[in-house]
Amino acid sequence: MTSLPILPMLLAVHVLSVMLWIGGLAFVTTVVLPALARLPAAQRIPAFLEIERRFGSQARVLVLVVGASGAGLLARLSLASLLGTAQGLWLDGMIAFWALFMLLLFVLEPAVLHRRLRERGARDGEATRVLLLRAHAVLLALALIVVTAAVLGVQGVG
Ligand code: HEM
Repeated sequence: MTSLPILPMLLAVHVLSVMLWIGGLAFVTTVVLPALARLPAAQRIPAFLEIERRFGSQARVLVLVVGASGAGLLARLSLASLLGTAQGLWLDGMIAFWALFMLLLFVLEPAVLHRRLRERGARDGEATRVLLLRAHAVLLALALIVVTAAVLGVQGVG
């Protein structure tokens, strides 16, 4: 009996969950936040928070799956010794980006961000929408850099 191809399966799970997570981030950044400008200013942030509530729970599961599959890959490929070295910068970048989202999704959003956004959005819906758009654009740009660095790093570039 042939053994299960654990490594390719881990990589597929890792890449598919990255795809759904970063695809969702791209959709919120390039479609949802610009489209909210068509709503009356007072409704923009409540509408964003309703959409974000639904995508947020998906993103939390996806980020956990990315972390678990990434840890599995790291162990199976014996890549831990690359961490903190010049050749392993792409790995450090993936882990730092992942840790930033763990902090955002599991700590900052529930503890402070949603309450602050609701208060700020009630005062100035448009300025808060623009702030959110900028913050999401920065996160999306970082994600694109991390994914590019991962693909190049695996190919031994850099
Ligand atoms: C705890 C966090 C993470 C760990 C430990 C981790 C670890 C790894 C490892 C060990 C690989 C396999 C490298 C190889 O096949 O030689 C990999 C592949 C990959 N990772 Fe991560 N990763 C993490 C988070 C992320 C994040 C946040 C992203 C993107 C936003 C990402 C994107 C990718 C991509 C696109 C690949 C496939 C590269 C390729 O095969 O061409 N990873 N990851």
